[in-house]
Amino acid sequence: MAIKSVVKLGNKQLANPSLPVEHFKSAELFELIQDMLDTMKEKGGVGIAAPQIGHNRRVIIFGFEKNERYPNEKPVPFTILINPIIEILSDEMVDGWEGCLSVPGLRGLVPRYQKIRYSGFDAEGNPISQVAEGFHARVVQHECDHIDGILFPQRIKDMRFFGFEEEIFAK
Ligand code: NI
Repeated sequence: MAIKSVVKLGNKQLANPSLPVEHFKSAELFELIQDMLDTMKEKGGVGIAAPQIGHNRRVIIFGFEKNERYPNEKPVPFTILINPIIEILSDEMVDGWEGCLSVPGLRGLVPRYQKIRYSGFDAEGNPISQVAEGFHARVVQHECDHIDGILFPQRIKDMRFFGFEEEIFAK
């Protein structure tokens, strides 16, 4: 078990596109996945991408039953997804508040596709294909952005809807 420090906005490692995984079932890959899991759990994230712990690989992890950072969202099935591809199934886009472990304390209103299909591979190299909607689709699009070197603030259309959590969600 290894909790890693999360690379933050401004670090160039987050802006570089990641490289595909070529060898599945490797000790290196399993170690990376375990470190991502441990770090995501420790930080209370709903997802994490390899570049966030300093690995330039196309590996993302997401899913939760209940999450304090997103208390109103329905559960998302826990998934390890390698070399992901997103297919847009509907032109409809929806706005939603996003945060990121690499952008601590801040949230932004980000438009995402409402319905997608994602495909890729699990840690053993077995193919995965899944249709996702709503917050599930949002999380996958957010994590896939990470491995293309994009962070959620770059997706915000109106910067008035970007700010600190405690201000945005002030009652
Ligand atoms: Ni993120």
